[in-house]
Amino acid sequence: MAPTETTTAERFRRFAEVEARGYSPLYDEWCTGVSDDDDILSRLDTLPPHRRQPVLFLGAARFVGVPLGDYSAFRSFVLAEWPSVRAVMESRTTQTNEAGRCAVLLPLLASISAEEGRPLALIEVGASAGACLFPDRYAYAYTPGPVLEPASGSPVPPLECAVSGDAPLPARLPEVIWRAGIDLNPLDARNEDDVRWLEALIWPEHAFRAERLRAALGVVRADPPLLVRGDLNEHIEPLVRRAPRDAVVVVFHSAVLAYLDQAGRNRFAGTMLGLAADRTRPVHWLSHEGHRTLTGVPGAMQPVPGERDGLFVLQHNGRSVARTGPHGQSIAWLPALPSVPIAW
Ligand SMILES: C[S@@+](CC[C@H](N)C(=O)[O-])C[C@H]1O[C@@H](n2cnc3c(N)ncnc32)[C@H](O)[C@@H]1O
Repeated sequence: MAPTETTTAERFRRFAEVEARGYSPLYDEWCTGVSDDDDILSRLDTLPPHRRQPVLFLGAARFVGVPLGDYSAFRSFVLAEWPSVRAVMESRTTQTNEAGRCAVLLPLLASISAEEGRPLALIEVGASAGACLFPDRYAYAYTPGPVLEPASGSPVPPLECAVSGDAPLPARLPEVIWRAGIDLNPLDARNEDDVRWLEALIWPEHAFRAERLRAALGVVRADPPLLVRGDLNEHIEPLVRRAPRDAVVVVFHSAVLAYLDQAGRNRFAGTMLGLAADRTRPVHWLSHEGHRTLTGVPGAMQPVPGERDGLFVLQHNGRSVARTGPHGQSIAWLPALPSVPIAW
């Protein structure tokens, strides 16, 4: 192994200490256990490195039915069921679909629609099952700020979002007249296994997120969006051309760019900046990604020393406008920054 490569044991220990500690005592315990467990590590090491991710392993064990008990029960189950756990790890990817992220997208979606004087045509790249394509069907509780709800009500518990800074919180929900997504592997809200997989990806202590997911997938099932299978760089321009002309097109993504290499991110950013600059038809680009994904990109945020890893950055047409909680639980609007040229 090259000196810079990380062992599977190190990956799991780091995941326990940095990602899970304070958020999921169970995953902290399990991953700490795995990091010292040669029987489990040797099995994980038979998989290619990109398939040894802790989140994929944990989701696969949950999908197969691991009991939510202590580490010794976890390891006994995984060792007994390893062929099934392994098969899930080989065939599935981490595709968490978090409707809560609509709470941090909504202020920009509403202001874009109001400023352009048109309803929205939404395109989400990396849409998973499409739960983020329905910001007009959810209820919101901003603190401090308004409580918003569709006129017909929402089956989804209000998306709660803590606000700081001068966020342009809307007074009403925008109208969406068309919605479409692109994903390498679109999940189907009507398919029981896909729904079970999405549930397995939610951390065990986050019961409210599981409840929200089930309700949001009900919204998707009732009005399935167009989901195009394939790479976002290949499909984005043709899909923009399919959007209705009487709408303002907003292309957005959340927790997706980490899956692309730098060349793929640069290509996508170039395409989006080109579309955003084309005044023959309005297209807006909203990016909601982990700050480390964007580090080094002009307009992106650098981590603040001492700040917990994991904050996301919201950008509009390449300019950072807010720091956010990764599941949409908070939005800290940034002071207006002087315009900087963006050269990806
Ligand atoms: C972590 S999920 C996020 C899903 C959704 N955006 C959300 O916020 O809930 C990332 C999604 O991006 C998709 N994805 C990754 N790389 C992609 C690519 N090159 N083209 C299209 N979709 C991609 C994955 O299949 C996955 O469904």
